[in-house]
Amino acid sequence: MRSIRQLLSGTTAFFFVLAPLASLAVDKDVPFVPTDEAVVEVMLKLADVGPKDTLYDLGSGDGRIVIMAAKERGAHGVGVDIDPERIAESRANAKRAGVTDKVQFIEGDLFKVDLRPATAVTLYLLPAVNLKLRPKLLAELRPGTPIVSHDFDMGDWAPETTVKVGNATVYLWHVPARVAGTWRYHVTAPGGKNERHQLQLTQDLDKVRGTVTMDGRSFPVENGRVDGERVMFTVKRPRQGAMVVQRYEGRMVDGRISGVIAADDGGNTGRRLARTDSNE
Ligand SMILES: C[S@@+](CC[C@H](N)C(=O)[O-])C[C@H]1O[C@@H](n2cnc3c(N)ncnc32)[C@H](O)[C@@H]1O
Repeated sequence: MRSIRQLLSGTTAFFFVLAPLASLAVDKDVPFVPTDEAVVEVMLKLADVGPKDTLYDLGSGDGRIVIMAAKERGAHGVGVDIDPERIAESRANAKRAGVTDKVQFIEGDLFKVDLRPATAVTLYLLPAVNLKLRPKLLAELRPGTPIVSHDFDMGDWAPETTVKVGNATVYLWHVPARVAGTWRYHVTAPGGKNERHQLQLTQDLDKVRGTVTMDGRSFPVENGRVDGERVMFTVKRPRQGAMVVQRYEGRMVDGRISGVIAADDGGNTGRRLARTDSNE
């Protein structure tokens, strides 16, 4: 079976000769090329899809990814495809596989579908389509949601994992928590002193920058990154004549970051960071 990559290296004319007439009537961003079953298995494994999941395959073709997620992993699956022929084929395939109660196929544009119910997303689109979709994925999916893409990456959003399956490549990301803004929190320093800090963060995908202000002095946030719900960074600050590296590690849940600040001088504290209005 030829992949999209192989088709792309051929001529455009070759595409159109192969495409059935009915398909040409639909305004698609990507042609229908199914993912090999061995690759689907790896995609579902990488996304760690299980019975509690609702997997969305955006541009779902003949429905094979959501059907396999339901049949092999007990997940609920939602396929979205703009081509009515593919949707009819998917529904027939789901019936044959005995999973009609676990899957749903939506005929529509993947850029318009509400992604908030998804707990995992699979893609086999094109590089430019992945990039156009990226802001929607980051805005609508919950932090920590796995996104798996067959063959095409997400530009400057580096994947956490890349797996080769024959000629195919599978990429994995997790949606980073949105941590940009102003945060205030109290810390009990070694010796019991209560300190009030303010943290100002900006975020670019999974990279975090900013400053921490304590005792009227500001220090840069270094090595900042977000991994799903987890946020991590270090801050160098002077203490008793020496530079101390503090490691912050927290988890953002329900608009709050809770975590631990550990200092390399042995003093450490664990406190809640409360979110404030980021425009403050
Ligand atoms: C390369 S196929 C992938 C099929 C399936 N996900 C798989 O991996 O086997 C891409 C699919 O996206 C669909 N598609 C293209 N543009 C779309 C759009 N804007 N909205 C929804 N589906 C679209 C096509 O009809 C096609 O079935």
